[in-house]
Formats: sequence, structure tokens, C-alpha cells
Amino acid sequence: MLTVVKADITTLEVDVIVNAANNSLLGGGGVDGAIHRAAGPELLEECRRLGGCATGDAKVTKGYRLPAKYVIHTVGPVWYGGERGEADLLASCYRRALEVAANVEARSIAFPGISTGVYGYPVDQAAKIAVTTVQEVLPAYPVIEKVVFCCFSDRDRAVYEKLLTKPK
Ligand code: AR6
Repeated sequence: MLTVVKADITTLEVDVIVNAANNSLLGGGGVDGAIHRAAGPELLEECRRLGGCATGDAKVTKGYRLPAKYVIHTVGPVWYGGERGEADLLASCYRRALEVAANVEARSIAFPGISTGVYGYPVDQAAKIAVTTVQEVLPAYPVIEKVVFCCFSDRDRAVYEKLLTKPK
């Protein structure tokens, strides 16, 4: 099941929340900052041991003080106009996050709009990649029952709702 909510992702009661991190995995602004603040300092300690993360890849930690059991940290591409492989890298974030989530037997997972903040990826294009990639990959992971697209604005929510109600 694919759903859309407008919420602060740190409040969601799901098995996994996905973090839009950077290659260092040592924290930052936006959703990354919010997740580290809500999870507490133990999250940064565990992240330090991961040795960073390549763009398009994903790594898992515990959720510490979050309601979520795990955080899957993925690194989206910086938007340079679309000619530098951004679409493939963004799709890879969603694929890898779902693969890692299935490995920890997550039944529910929430994604923020990876790359659509500081990294500048246009929301309409990013949301289309998010939805089509999840729809494509999800049948391979029957353990994952619920995928939540967690939006931070009404505009973003409307973009996702339109994509999810459109007949394929
Ligand atoms: N809950 C849900 N979504 C949020 C929240 C929140 N609490 N806060 C922001 N968003 P961004 P990026 C939305 O900039 O573009 C960090 O510094 C936000 O409105 O967080 O992938 C990292 O360390 C937007 O739709 O991530 C990296 O350096 C989406 O989350 C860099 O930013 C992503 O915005 C990553 O940039």
C-alpha cells in the first residue's frame, strides 16, 4: 500500500524512516537535522562508524529516541539540471532503501522527498521517480506492507496525491 501524508517524518510510527543525508552521514540541515535532533546523540555515534555513504546508496542504523525502529540513511543527488545522471541516482536511493528495509524485515517505511530541498531536485520530477520506482520494486519485497510518502508542504502533498490517484 502506498500512502501520502503531510507530517514531520520524525513523528511517524513506522518501522523505518528514511533520511535524506549527505555523503559524510554526519548530519546536516533539513530533514537530516530534524532526524538527528529527534533521535538523540547516539544516532551520530552510530553514523560515525558507517564510514559515509555513496550517492544512490543506503545504510541502516537504529532509531534510538524516534518512534521508528530504524533509520535508513540515503544520499540523493545534487540537481545540476538533469544531465548528470540525477534521475538514475535518485531512483537508486529508493531501490536501495527498500532493499535495506526488507533486510531488517520492516513492514512499514516512510520516505521524505529525497533531494528536493537543499539539493534542488524539482519536486514534480522527483516525486514521479519516487512513486514509479517504489511501485516497480515493491512486489519483490512482500514483507513491506506500507510505504508512506511523507511531505512537508501542502504543495508537495498535492503532487504525490495526483501521482497516486492517476490510473497507470
Ligand atoms: N519531515 C519531513 N520532511 C522534511 C522535514 C521533516 N522534519 N524537514 C525537511 N523536510 P532536505 P536534500 C523535507 O533539504 O534536498 C541536509 O543538510 C523538505 O521540505 O532535507 O536531500 C543533508 O545533510 C524537502 O522536501 O534534503 C544534505 O547535506 C525534503 O525533506 C542535504 O541537506 C528534503 O529536503 C540533503 O538535501
